[in-house]
Amino acid sequence: MENIRNFCIIAHIDHGKSTLADRFLELTKTVEKRLMKEQLLDSMDLERERGITIKLQPVRMEWKGYQLNLIDTPGHVDFQYEVSRSLAACEGAILVVDATQGIEAQTLSNLYLALDHDLEIIPVLNKIDLPAADPERVAIEIENILGIPRADIIAISAKEGTNVDLLLDRIVAKIPNPLQGGLRKKLQITTDEETKALIFDSVYDSYKGVLAFVRVISGEIRRGQKLSLLRTKIDLDPLEVGIFSPQYKPSEKLSAGEVGYVVTGLKSTREARVGDTIYGGKDRAHTTPLPGYALANPMVFSGIFCTEGSEYPLLRDALEKLSLSDSAISFEPENSVALGNGFRCGFLGLLHLDIVQERLEREYDLDLIVTAPSVKYVVTTSKKEVLEISSAAELPDPSYIETIAEPIAKVEIITPQEYIGGLMELIQKKRGIFKNISYLNQERAVIAAEVPMANLVTDFYDKLKSISSGYASMNYEFTEMREDDLVKMDILVAGEIVLPLSQMLHRSEVQTAGSIIVKKLKEIIPKANFPIALQAAVGSRVLARETISAYRKDVTAGLYGGDVTRKNKLLKKQKKGKKRMKAMGKVDLPQEAFLAVLKREE
Ligand code: GTP
Repeated sequence: MENIRNFCIIAHIDHGKSTLADRFLELTKTVEKRLMKEQLLDSMDLERERGITIKLQPVRMEWKGYQLNLIDTPGHVDFQYEVSRSLAACEGAILVVDATQGIEAQTLSNLYLALDHDLEIIPVLNKIDLPAADPERVAIEIENILGIPRADIIAISAKEGTNVDLLLDRIVAKIPNPLQGGLRKKLQITTDEETKALIFDSVYDSYKGVLAFVRVISGEIRRGQKLSLLRTKIDLDPLEVGIFSPQYKPSEKLSAGEVGYVVTGLKSTREARVGDTIYGGKDRAHTTPLPGYALANPMVFSGIFCTEGSEYPLLRDALEKLSLSDSAISFEPENSVALGNGFRCGFLGLLHLDIVQERLEREYDLDLIVTAPSVKYVVTTSKKEVLEISSAAELPDPSYIETIAEPIAKVEIITPQEYIGGLMELIQKKRGIFKNISYLNQERAVIAAEVPMANLVTDFYDKLKSISSGYASMNYEFTEMREDDLVKMDILVAGEIVLPLSQMLHRSEVQTAGSIIVKKLKEIIPKANFPIALQAAVGSRVLARETISAYRKDVTAGLYGGDVTRKNKLLKKQKKGKKRMKAMGKVDLPQEAFLAVLKREE
């Protein structure tokens, strides 16, 4: 165990985590150079295309006689709960900071998590090959926050490989071995009589079924051993155990201190929950599980429907398959008069929703209508019943409602100081409450605020980026449900309420939002051969109204007689455009219409 080092890399998005991991793999000769492709650990196509890490992928490397286990972590806030699990499996963390940017909101939130887990932190300045790099300034920021002397911070170029070997030496020298640090030390475990291993991730593999990624804290795990899961109390006989090389490589056993995988024979990742403890020993009933078990908590909810009603069973199969590998998705059947049969799905955040939607469309070839995401509200009725709703359509009749509470997020924004004014305005406009401001150095500030989750998940992040020319970053987490004056705004198309377009808003927001949304819908909804009235209303009070005039011309009328191919092309194009429409009574609504209700400002 003395020769093992378990560590992860924490970084803000794009600061170079995956690139650094690539250099590690090369230098330690874990992967032959000719087989190296960029960002090797980002294994999903989607990850490589978007250049982001969604799912973590561990790897074992050898360096000067030491076994190094790297557990990669996702950088985006939606996947924060995965970060926390991987930290619990390590004794140390490399904190990568882009020397052209400095510390960002996610760097800080990950850093706090790492400090909570008592990890040894090795700060690294990256991208020193770039002319815009300012290692001195960024080193001061790190020194101020971590108290690590500037001189001890390694400056590297992950792209060119500069000083990456020094960093590997530092990992060996600084990060405690599994006997001296991490969970084993924290829990004061000194014997290996019992097997305890932390599941820090679980994935579904089409050949091997459900794999648990584990860090063995004490004892060992072998194939066929009688084991069980302490939280879910499920029995487990590993069909295979192995290490990440980075491909799955079977091994005889996994010993205390090591990181590897266990082929569980279970059916879904829900059974091998992240954070659960694999146990082997005599006294299951009196053994406390390892700390770190938290269920993923969906924050935003959308209805997902097929444009073709007949594809519903395919959508159900696809969601079931996807959720075998992504235990954070929740879904339950939803029946909408307007959209037919579909599912109400819960996601960790908007990026998660976006990724799931794209995977459903790409991997399962489905044409979907996704309704505008909503957060969860808690409604107390006059009979003191407490209801949880995740879409405005579920709201009971207003005369029965006593109170409505909405989720509030604690937000932390890091920004160059010239944008503080603009960001304060943004916070206020989004019904946020400013809490506190502190400074990382003379130029950069940390703003703390509370903002209703509903206003965060819409366009807060885009606005923050445009106000600060891209320089500010943010991080948020749910804190509490809070009562406020919240109402349901309906959208009427041709005199009929279209429930999937209804949404919850604060009373102070409805007037502006209503008129913007009907204007937006007027641009999006195609003309029909009759005028279409669009209205935004709260109860029976109409707030805004627009009319789409009737079309008069046949689209192909303008084309001269002979050119059949052109005429067919046009008709085909029209047909394709129609694919993603859903008929609402007499009117066709395109997919964009369902998302247009999120636009609440010009
Ligand atoms: P996520 O996977 O989204 O969390 O990002 P990441 O932190 O893994 O960043 P990634 O390694 O994908 O790097 C982001 C961008 O920075 C890529 O375009 C890299 O080529 C570039 N990059 C990373 N390290 C260096 C470096 O040392 N120098 C230069 N010039 N570019 C770098």
